[in-house]
Amino acid sequence: MDRLPRNCASQQASGPRIGENALLLPRRTLLTGLGAAVAAPAFTAFGRSLPNIDTPFVLGVASGDPAEDGFTLWTRLGVLPLDPADAAAGLPGSVHVQWSVASDEGMRSVVRRGTATAERRGGHSIHVDVEGLAPDRPYWYRFTALGARSEIGRTRTLPARGAALDRLRIGIASCASYERGFFSAYRHLAEERPDLVLFLGDYIYEYSLAANADPVRGYGSDTATDVAGYRHRYARHRSDPDLQAAHAAAPWVSVWDDHEVQDDYSGIWSSHPELAVRDFRRRRAAGYRAWFENMPVRRALRPHGDHARIYRRFRYGDLATISTLDGRQYRSRQPCPTAAPFGKGHIEPASCADLADPSRTMLGAAQERWAYKGMEDKSAAWTLIAQDLLMATVRAGDDQTERYWTDTWDGFQAPRQRFLDAIAARRPNNPVILSGDYHAYYLNDLHQRPDDANSPRIATEILGTSITSNGPSYDAVTARLPRNPHIRFFDSRARGYVMLDLKRERMDIALRTISDRRDRAATVSTLANFAIESGRPEIVRA
Ligand SMILES: [Fe+2]
Repeated sequence: MDRLPRNCASQQASGPRIGENALLLPRRTLLTGLGAAVAAPAFTAFGRSLPNIDTPFVLGVASGDPAEDGFTLWTRLGVLPLDPADAAAGLPGSVHVQWSVASDEGMRSVVRRGTATAERRGGHSIHVDVEGLAPDRPYWYRFTALGARSEIGRTRTLPARGAALDRLRIGIASCASYERGFFSAYRHLAEERPDLVLFLGDYIYEYSLAANADPVRGYGSDTATDVAGYRHRYARHRSDPDLQAAHAAAPWVSVWDDHEVQDDYSGIWSSHPELAVRDFRRRRAAGYRAWFENMPVRRALRPHGDHARIYRRFRYGDLATISTLDGRQYRSRQPCPTAAPFGKGHIEPASCADLADPSRTMLGAAQERWAYKGMEDKSAAWTLIAQDLLMATVRAGDDQTERYWTDTWDGFQAPRQRFLDAIAARRPNNPVILSGDYHAYYLNDLHQRPDDANSPRIATEILGTSITSNGPSYDAVTARLPRNPHIRFFDSRARGYVMLDLKRERMDIALRTISDRRDRAATVSTLANFAIESGRPEIVRA
C-alpha cells in the first residue's frame, strides 16, 4: 500500500524549551509569504476563494497512544465544503505541517517541534510519534500549515513504569452513527476532562440509512467500499465540532469493530456471502487504511495490505494496565450462518457445532498468546482489557431451547472459554473487560463458565452505550434478564458514554446519558452509578 514518506518527527524534533517565537511568524507574514506562495496557485487553479481555505485544519487535531515519554499527534488537512472524493481537494498534493508541543496551555514554552508532510496519497493525514517528554503530565500541541494555525489540543503522557498513581479518569465511547444523531455525547465527554478516552469501535458506519429511517443528517455518499468512500465517512465525522472537542481534550486509545469495514464481517469473510474473500480483503484493506489515516495511533499501526496489528498495551503506573484487543481481524468465519439476512442472528447450540469447536478463534493464536501473557503482569492494581464485543453471554430462547447471538463472543464460545480459563488460571489483578458494539449499557459479572452462575466470578464487564447508534429492543432483552442473572444492569434506551474514575481500592462507574441525540445542544445527566471494589469481581450499585 501507499506509504507516507518518513516524516521529520524524529530528525527535526528539537530540544527542550524553544521559544515559540522562533517557530511562528506573525500570521499576516505567513499569509503574504510562505502561505500565499504555496496556497495561492493551488486555489487559483481550482477556482476556490480564500475564505474557504482560511484554515486547512477543518478536521481537527488529535493525540493518542500515550507513552511514558510521548504520544502520537495527528491531524488531517481538509477544505470545506468537503468533496466526497477528496476532503483536501484544492490543497497541494504535498503540504508541510509544522507541529509543536508545549508544557503550558498558552503554548508559550514549546518543548518539542518538527515538521511532517501531509500527502494526498495518505489522505493528507500526518502521524507524529513524539518522544523525549516527561512522564505523567499534561502537554499541549498545535499545528501550522499553509499560513494557518490549528486549534490547541491537550494531551498527557503515561506515568513512569511502576510509579505510584492515585487516580485515573477514563471516558469510554463507541458506536457513533453520524446519521442517527449529533455528537453532543462527545462534547460532554470532553468537558469532563478525562485523562484518556477509550474508543471501542464503530467510529464510522460504512452504510447509509434509507430516507425512511429519518436520518438527522446524511453522509451524502453511497455505502463505503473503497478508500475514497471510507475517507469521506471519516471526514464527515471529523468535521463535527463536538467530536473535534473530544479529540482535543485528551489522548485517545482506539480499536475498531466491524463498521470501520462492513457490518458483521468476520476475519477475511464478508457478511455478504456473495462477496468473494479476495474481493472482501481488498475492501478490508481500504477500511483499515482509512482507519489508520484518521486515528491518532502510532505509525507502527499502519496497515500492510489488509493487516494491521492494533492490539497493544498501556501502563498507568502501579494503578492500571490497559490492553486493547482486536476482535475482528483474526477471527474465524461467523458460526453456522443462519437464514437471517447476511448470515447473522440467533442460533441454537444443538444445531451448531461451531459454537463448541475449539479450533475456532476470536483473537487468532498470536493475539491470544499475547493477551494471556499480559494477564501475568501483576504490576498494577487493575487489569483493564478494552475490546470491541460483548463478552458475557446473553441467553435468549426459552426453557426448552437456548439461543445465542452469533456476532459477539456468544458466537465464539470455545475461544471465550479459553479466554476465561486464562483469567482464572493467571489471576490478574482486578480484571475488567471494557466492551463496545452493542449500543446499550451492559454491566456484567463474568463467571468462569458463562452459563453457570455457580461457577466462580472471575472478572467484570462494562459496556457503554452508543454515542448515537440505535440500541437493541429494551423489552426483548429485559425479558431475558431473569435467565441471565450475571447481567447486573441493562438499558438500551439511552445514548451516551461511560466515565470511569479509578482509584486503587475502587472503580467508580458513571453511566452518562444525553437528553436527545437529535438535539445538537442536548444536555447530559447520569443514568446510574455503579462501582467495583478491589478484590471483588462484582458490579454493585453506588
Ligand atoms: Fe455499533
